Amino acid sequence: MDKIVVLDFGGQYNQLIARRVREHHVYAEVKGYNRISLEEIKAENYTGIIFTGGPNSVYDEASPHFDPAILDAGIPILGICYGCQLMAWMGGGEICSAGSISEYGKTELYVKNSVLFKDVPESSICWMSHTDYVKTAPKGFEIIGNTDNCPCAAMCDDERKLYGVQFHPEVTHTEFGAQILHNFLFEVCKCKGDWSMDDYCKQTVTALRAKIGDGKVLLALSGGVDSSVCAALLAEAIGNKLTCVFVDHGLMRKDEGDEVESAFSKWDINFIRVNAQERFINKLAGVTEPERKRKIIGEEFIRVFEEVGKEIGAVDYLAQGTIYPDVIESGLGASATIKSHHNVGGLPDFVDFREIIEPLGLLFKDEVRELGSKLGLPDYLVSRQPFPGPGLAIRILGEITSEKLEILREADAIFREEMALCGCDATTSQYFAVLDSSRSVGVMGDARTYGYTVILRAVTTDDFMTADWARLPFELLAKASSRITNEVRSVTRVAYDVTSKPPATVEWE
Ligand code: XMP
Repeated sequence: MDKIVVLDFGGQYNQLIARRVREHHVYAEVKGYNRISLEEIKAENYTGIIFTGGPNSVYDEASPHFDPAILDAGIPILGICYGCQLMAWMGGGEICSAGSISEYGKTELYVKNSVLFKDVPESSICWMSHTDYVKTAPKGFEIIGNTDNCPCAAMCDDERKLYGVQFHPEVTHTEFGAQILHNFLFEVCKCKGDWSMDDYCKQTVTALRAKIGDGKVLLALSGGVDSSVCAALLAEAIGNKLTCVFVDHGLMRKDEGDEVESAFSKWDINFIRVNAQERFINKLAGVTEPERKRKIIGEEFIRVFEEVGKEIGAVDYLAQGTIYPDVIESGLGASATIKSHHNVGGLPDFVDFREIIEPLGLLFKDEVRELGSKLGLPDYLVSRQPFPGPGLAIRILGEITSEKLEILREADAIFREEMALCGCDATTSQYFAVLDSSRSVGVMGDARTYGYTVILRAVTTDDFMTADWARLPFELLAKASSRITNEVRSVTRVAYDVTSKPPATVEWE
């Protein structure tokens, strides 16, 4: 099987490069430049090497370097940004500070005829982010690309199959970035492109079996995509050595608890569903303040886990569904700092375990979804939109009661159904219903009604830090409104939230 090693020199896009390679059906893995030697690279039989970018200047003493003999190892290399400068420096070229003409952002790129630029027009847009640049290409290299301010935006030594680009082909802003990577993989490295998520799945299952052996693994299953796929992967690998604890706090959407449980019935694992609905609703009685609600739910979660944890006793591993965007790389291949994204804060404090394992740590969200499908998880689970840990509790404004939860669940299910029917679910990042506890007057038949208001919310966003309200078709809103007021009792009004984030947040509480 072809495989590419992405040699990480501290660039912010290291995993993104690997992912772009995998998109071409070629397996790629990231290795810190100081975690692998040239001998190991040769022994691993990599089909190609990609040097990542990095924040340093090659002339800094502390900057990451590599054995220059790598250039003569007979393995094709693509150097990106710092990786290109490093390649030039190792080959005896000259690097310069761009000073006031450093480039950042979209830049016009001019390229010459080269195998790296097959099917790339002479002029196109690339993404630049650098302060140093290659002033003189090393011996044996030819300059094959430039920008207005960068005389060597791309260089090559066809004989040794060495290629360097100052810009970033891995980001989508580089118009022909995917084509350039394709050319490196297929024209230069002669990859076959026969890798698939099936292979990843098999390899990871084998690796997990080898690592875990007879050990016991505990996983807190929230029902979200990441923890569900993590559970499925472990279930496939180690079966009943896995214990999944799924706390049903009663604040899930319609049928969600049962869906999660039934998705795991095909595996022989220890699945513990803790039906804690009453506990949570009792704790939340009379509470209206949003932060207080969140705190109560978080604390109660921990109490429930503590109790289950006592019954389970010591485990060898605690598994987490952390995915790559949750991982903050400290860079340079040093050990990663994990952002605690878990809703169940503090869980590891009282569960006795040896090590945390994060089998999805290299994957991006859409890759996680693909893996989940391969493992046989149902579509409704793997394509699930984000859902906050405190659940519907932060979508009911004011006090939470069983009655309001029931109303919101029904209204939300109708809205989601209508969104899916008109295909708007695919173009919207998150959409849901919110229930306002205040009431308003309505009329039904000849009678006066006095009921709740359901607010529909739908947003588009890339990263959830900012979001825009979705321009949903009026017909869809009309249908959802009509169905909700007709089919859900005690709802007199439906409103649509037309506020972006900022100034609002996505959730109402
Ligand atoms: P906000 O409301 O902060 O939401 O604009 C941004 C994204 O985060 C989700 N969210 C949460 N997710 N636990 C979570 O796991 C939480 O407490 C929480 N609060 C908000 C929200 O659904 C949206 O996707």
